[in-house]
Amino acid sequence: MAVGLPRHIAVIMDGNGRWATARGEPRIAGHREGAKSVRETVRAARELGIEALTLFAFSEQNWDRPPDEVDALMELLYRYVLEERAEIMDNQIRLTAIGALDRLPSFVRQPLFELCEASKENRGMTLCLALSYGGREDIVGAARALAADVRSGRIDPDEINEVLLDARLATASLPPLDLLIRTSGEYRISNFLLWQAAYAELYFTPRMWPEFRRPDLLEAIEAFRRRERRFGRVSAQVADEPAKRGP
Ligand code: FPP
Repeated sequence: MAVGLPRHIAVIMDGNGRWATARGEPRIAGHREGAKSVRETVRAARELGIEALTLFAFSEQNWDRPPDEVDALMELLYRYVLEERAEIMDNQIRLTAIGALDRLPSFVRQPLFELCEASKENRGMTLCLALSYGGREDIVGAARALAADVRSGRIDPDEINEVLLDARLATASLPPLDLLIRTSGEYRISNFLLWQAAYAELYFTPRMWPEFRRPDLLEAIEAFRRRERRFGRVSAQVADEPAKRGP
């Protein structure tokens, strides 16, 4: 049975450095072209009616890159937030960010938080930027929040279940993750949305992120629609009740 559009798509935008190196350009040229892919992907997802798009723009581990590259990525993020403001507001996009945001330099954090606040009532699509994000760190944060609730007496340890943990993850305000895309021919999740990917369909493409454009997103969505999502059940059950899903 064909499935509908994914409600929530996440992307590991990989291959910027290799794309640039293959062209004899510095790695940052790949990130700059990658920012164009971000713009096109966001616009296409919005037009298609996707509810949420989460982009892995900077991992917790990316801080270990050479300082020049980290600085250049922060500068690109800053410019993105400034330059896309009108596009985000005009298209009713709600901007959110997840990760250790306090680690971002204040020249990025301030305009980012300001646009998140200004766009929080927008209902067209949620664009979630994962910045200084790590999936394990996210789960640790949720475990810590549960422990605090137990200590304060709000929750009994025996009540803890998947729903309560899920509600304490950074992605709690987003629909369940349906489709996880990774570019550049690598087959890893790289500490992205580990818990959230439990029932996501995984889509890997050899395309480098700077080359990833609207047709590539459409192709990934078409591949998703051809998948049969069983959530642990058998095909006949899925045909009877296709909407059943994980927490
Ligand atoms: C991975 O490619 C990509 C990143 C670590 C950064 C992603 C950033 C952007 C796409 C641009 C800025 C983002 C926004 C939201 C404006 P890589 O450098 O690891 O590539 P490689 O594996 O080929 O070296």
